[in-house]
Amino acid sequence: MSTFDKKILVTGGAGFIGSHLLRLLVNKYPNYQLVNLDKLTYAGNLANLKDIENKENYVFVKGDIRETQVLDDLFAQYQFDGVIHLAAESHVDRSIAHPMEFITTNIIGTVNLLNASRSAWKDNMEGKIFYHVSTDEVYGSLGKEGLFLETTPYDPRSPYSASKASSDHLVRAYNHTYKLPIKISNCSNNYGSYQFPEKLLPLFIHNIKNNKALPVYGDGTNVRDWLWVVDHARAIDVIFHEGKIGETYNIGGWNEWRNIDLIHKMCEIMDKKLERPEGTSAGLITFVKDRAGHDARYAIDATKLKDDLGWEPSLQFEEGLEKTIDWYLSNNEWLDNVTSGDYQKYYQEQYVKRETV
Ligand code: NAD
Ligand code: TYD
Repeated sequence: MSTFDKKILVTGGAGFIGSHLLRLLVNKYPNYQLVNLDKLTYAGNLANLKDIENKENYVFVKGDIRETQVLDDLFAQYQFDGVIHLAAESHVDRSIAHPMEFITTNIIGTVNLLNASRSAWKDNMEGKIFYHVSTDEVYGSLGKEGLFLETTPYDPRSPYSASKASSDHLVRAYNHTYKLPIKISNCSNNYGSYQFPEKLLPLFIHNIKNNKALPVYGDGTNVRDWLWVVDHARAIDVIFHEGKIGETYNIGGWNEWRNIDLIHKMCEIMDKKLERPEGTSAGLITFVKDRAGHDARYAIDATKLKDDLGWEPSLQFEEGLEKTIDWYLSNNEWLDNVTSGDYQKYYQEQYVKRETV
């Protein structure tokens, strides 16, 4: 008999947000067993989880959510009480270049998980939770005014956001049709440690450090709302435990920046940290051809989450940005391993060897 009070499947836990979420849950809930199912795509990195990999309430399983047998076997083995689903292809530029992976993982993979949960829980859905982690990009693009509300109609514009929107609809459909107990959250752009350096912040920190060009898409006036990744993990924890079944919660930082202003801010901080003459990093800014279909502005109204569940961001952006830059500058090994591809050997060394002893 298991000694754990709850058994939770987290998908995509070796990625950026998933690793922060697991760190929080594994440490905060020693009475929960947390099973991390991750395919370890280019974005999955077990080095993100080194500090918790030996904890007794944590298990890693390498597997693909597109394979139904993997899911059925896992549900049979662990008898999960909850699922927190983060596994996804997550980079807009990749979705423009190669949409099909986004369709298979983000849509079909999500339906596979819904089916596995439904089948495992069909006799008793009491106390079970299927929590789907999604993005504000499903709402489309804002003009100069306005904020995304939970009731804003969906209007996705990139293959990435369309695949996430599709998965959100399917999750809601399983709630309406089969009474699967679901929750959804839609969050704005996250920043912080352990983010793969293809997204704006880690890419630009890496390039500044290495005196490489900073490719600003279009005129740099696109606006994003930025939230510290640890605050996103805190929000997921609160929603998982206290959010209402069937509800959607928007998560955001109340922290809008035009890309170009954010980039100048980063350049200023980096010049100081690297003790370079003022203006050195900004000299690397290079305007390049715009992203196809580039959404102009995202901004979240997170009032519902504050009013209903008392969640608010914990960190001011200036402090978070400094912390994040410091982390990438003092974790050279992590960044170098990721940019050279060496991190992909870690699974081989850490797990395959271990399994075959
Ligand atoms: P990420 O790309 O860093 O990590 C995704 C993880 O999923 C990786 O570990 C990868 O190996 C795994 N994965 C991919 N395909 C898989 C498959 N077929 N089977 C099993 N595992 C697979 O992404 P992230 O930034 O951590 O985002 C996590 C989730 O949060 C995504 O669902 C994303 O849509 C959502 N989200 C992200 C942001 C953001 O700013 N990064 C904002 C809002 C919502
Ligand atoms: P990104 O981090 O890819 O997140 P998203 O597209 O999901 O918002 O990009 C954030 C913003 O930065 C977005 O407006 C695109 C822009 N951007 C650049 O200008 N240059 C780059 O090299 C990247 C990766 C992004």
